[in-house]
Parts: sequence; C-alpha cells; structure tokens
Amino acid sequence: MENELKNIEKISIKSFQEDLISWFKDEQRDLPWRKDQDPYKVWVSEIMLQQTRVDTVIPYFNRFIEWFPTINDLASANEDKVLKAWEGLGYYSRVRNLHSAVKEVNEKYNGQVPNTPKDISNLKGVGPYTAGAILSIAYGIPEPAVDGNVMRVLSRILSIWEDIAKPSTRKIFEKAVRELISHDDPSAFNQALMELGALICTPTSPSCLLCPVRDHCQGFHEGVESELPIKSKKNSQKSVDLAAVVVKDEKGRILIHKRPETGLLANLWEFPNVEMHQPVLMDRSQITDLFNESFDMNIKLEKSIGQIEHIFSHLIWNIRVYTGTINSNFPEGTEWKFLTLQEMEEYAFPVSFHKILKLYKENA
Ligand code: ADE
Repeated sequence: MENELKNIEKISIKSFQEDLISWFKDEQRDLPWRKDQDPYKVWVSEIMLQQTRVDTVIPYFNRFIEWFPTINDLASANEDKVLKAWEGLGYYSRVRNLHSAVKEVNEKYNGQVPNTPKDISNLKGVGPYTAGAILSIAYGIPEPAVDGNVMRVLSRILSIWEDIAKPSTRKIFEKAVRELISHDDPSAFNQALMELGALICTPTSPSCLLCPVRDHCQGFHEGVESELPIKSKKNSQKSVDLAAVVVKDEKGRILIHKRPETGLLANLWEFPNVEMHQPVLMDRSQITDLFNESFDMNIKLEKSIGQIEHIFSHLIWNIRVYTGTINSNFPEGTEWKFLTLQEMEEYAFPVSFHKILKLYKENA
C-alpha cells in the first residue's frame, strides 16, 4: 500500500488543506442539507446522493424532510408513505434500510444518531462512505468519506493508478484521506473534496485552470489528469423481456399488484406482468395463456399499445404493453387492488410503471 501513496510526500499538507477549504468556503453551492448539521438530515441527504445527482435529489430531500422532519417522525411512519416519498429515485433498498435503521436509532439510541464509527457502521445501509460523511459533517470527526467522486479527485491529485472499480481500492483512498484530512475542519475538508469533484474535477475534461489545488496536483504536473482515474468496465447488463397488462374493471378502475417484499423494487406496486423467455415466438394469445398460468385469474389481453424500455444499473427491461379485461372475480389477497387513477396517487410505483401509464393514457 505504501507504494500507491508515494506521492503524498510531495504534498504540503497544511497548504493543500488551506487552499481546498478556503475555496470551498467561497464557492460551495447553497444546498438544502447544508443549512444545518442535524445528523438525521445529513444522513438522509447522503443516502439520497448515493447514485443520484444533486439536482435530482434537492426536491426529494426537501419533501422528505417536510414529511418526516425528525427521526421520530420517520421511525413511526408507515412503509407505504416512506416508499411514496422515494418514488422515482430508484434503488429502493436505500430507503427501506434507512427506515429500519432510523427505527433502530429511535429505540436503541434514544433518537440520537450514534457518533462512533463502530455504532454508526452497524446501522442498516450505512457503509463506510455514509458513516464517514455523517461523522465528519454532522459531528466534526476526522473520518474519511470516500465515494467514486472522491476517488476520482484523489487519483488525480496523488496520481494513483489503481482500478477504482475494484472494491478493495477504496481502502487505499481512505488511507490517503486519513493523512490529508484537516483536523480543524473535517466537515469542510470532506465536503470540499466532494464539491471539487462536482464542480471542477469532473469525470471528463476537468477544469484544471480553475482548480484551487492545481499546484498540489501530481496528475496535472504529469499531464495525465485526463487518463485518471482507472476504472474497469463492469459486465454488461442483462436484458429481460416482459409483458404487462393494464386491466380495467367495469367501473373503470385499474388492477395493480404489489411486488414481493424482497428483491428488485420490493414492495412497490405495478401492473400485472410476466416474463417472456422467447419473446419473438410469443403472440397475444400465448401471452394471455402465460398470464393465466402465472396468476390464478382469468385475464384476456385485448390490444397491444406499445413497448417501453427501462434501464437499471444491472438490467434492462423491455416491456410489451397490452390492455386487457378480467373475467374472474376480484383476485384474492392483499397484493391485488383495483384503483381509480386518483387513488393510485397514494401508492408508490416504479418509474417503468409511470411510463406504462403514460402509454396507456395516450393509446387506450
Ligand atoms: N455528494 C455526496 N454527498 C454530497 C454532499 N454532502 N454535498 C454535495 N454533493 C454530495
């Protein structure tokens, strides 16, 4: 490990901290989670900001804090409302973990987010990055908060050529941060690295001429800033073909189904759908049979109204969409409901569901 960090010796640490932090104090964006240091709000924001862009997160964060202003409010909220607050943000296990961790904080820690690496890391969904972000930003503790953006920034500053797609690489960067972090202001230091990654040291064509720490940057001195970071490609996405049906009853209400409580998009609602293993061979009547084998009810597909695509990080859904009717009685069980469009507004649906609903409204 020593070797990967050999360039740390070339950095004047005090002056690096000063240049970075004073730039951050002058140039930081006015973001809603920066209004105070409430550990709960820092926590919510950091969970939302994993895998989601700042501009997207802002309105979600504001609404979430409006609906659940304190740990206690979130701990006592019902899961459907919590999922509704997250609807459209994706990676829903983030919010399920947050909800269960907040309940644990309420019970075990009297509603106070713990302030030690050990206790905070034991909470569901709190990995090393989130733990470090909360400890440094809310509590001023000099812990590293290393995500992909921070690795990009530091790979350039220290000219580190390890593959940042490899899980074990994060430790190298954490070690670098432990050496570089300001003990006077760990919060500003960590946030400044994030901010630099967002505003200056961007993935393609970094704005080195505007960079407050260019003089400290080995990547810039060596002229290799655009070659870093090294990031190997993940395996390609798997593609899954589905057929979904929008079934209306005689009162004009629409049939929806609750997804299982584990796995992808757990506990969200959707239109009834089936996987087609050989889509090119399947016509409307065969898909009708497939529906009726999969669900114990008598659905008849009527009209094809188009196709939608939905891309997850690891998966692509190609969904053929039909309208249909149902001859059997109301399906049994709490996982099926007939709802009006207005009633649907209370339920949380995946983005793909909204694409289907739009298709339906335009074509049916
Ligand atoms: N990305 C991750 N955490 C962030 C934060 N606290 N502020 C801005 N961008 C971020």
